[in-house]
Amino acid sequence: MIFKHFTPKHIKLNQIESTNSYLHDLNVKIKQKNGTLVSAKNQTLGKGQKGNRWESEEGKNLTFSIVTYPNIKAKYAFYLNIIASLAVQKALSDLTITAKIKWPNDILVNQKKIGGILIENQINGNSINQSIIGIGLNINQSTFNSKLNATSIINEGITVDIEDVLIQIYGYLDFYYNLLIQSNFKLLRQHYYKHLFWHNQIGIFKDEKSEFKALVMGISDIGLLELRLLDNTTNYYDIKDVKFIY
Ligand code: BTN
Repeated sequence: MIFKHFTPKHIKLNQIESTNSYLHDLNVKIKQKNGTLVSAKNQTLGKGQKGNRWESEEGKNLTFSIVTYPNIKAKYAFYLNIIASLAVQKALSDLTITAKIKWPNDILVNQKKIGGILIENQINGNSINQSIIGIGLNINQSTFNSKLNATSIINEGITVDIEDVLIQIYGYLDFYYNLLIQSNFKLLRQHYYKHLFWHNQIGIFKDEKSEFKALVMGISDIGLLELRLLDNTTNYYDIKDVKFIY
């Protein structure tokens, strides 16, 4: 397969604390090319958003990280979340699974979480000179802690080879990465909106003060969530300032 930007290299590990951390440390020692991928059958300290752990049954799912050097302005960091979410959404759609993106980047199927993304950037001056895109996607795991409200490809009735899904996501990530480095932000946003959970609908949110209803207008060019409140005022929220209830 020919990629526009990625130089394919796949480091397969059996067990590691976290593929994101491994790739980060490896890159300090030996600088990897754009698109180097590390996957692990088992992560002993898989990292999730907001300091949470990412739990995944050994050998059943995809847990991997890709290093890229986008050199985009730091204010566009959210577009890395967008391209990663879209790559996963598209790979699932090829399997006839309709996935929705819950802002900022949870991947949901039938309102259950099937995948998550953790992006760790290195910023130099005001540009992102290295980004490690970590993706966890549930594939063959059939039981989950009920508190997690999670699902997997197998639980959605589809049988698939784990490696095939990885190759698809990798190819789509290269495709969307191309739009990103061409600064095609508008097109990326349009794609993102198509799959964004509750876009143009009213959802229930929670900020540090209270729960409130608001219409999901979209994402600002710097990745803030744009909400129209019921009194018609428009507010912009950073990931850490608001939580999507439903
Ligand atoms: C989330 O909380 O939704 C984000 C989960 C991200 C998990 C992936 S699994 C591969 C990579 N390595 C990690 O330690 N985390 C990410």
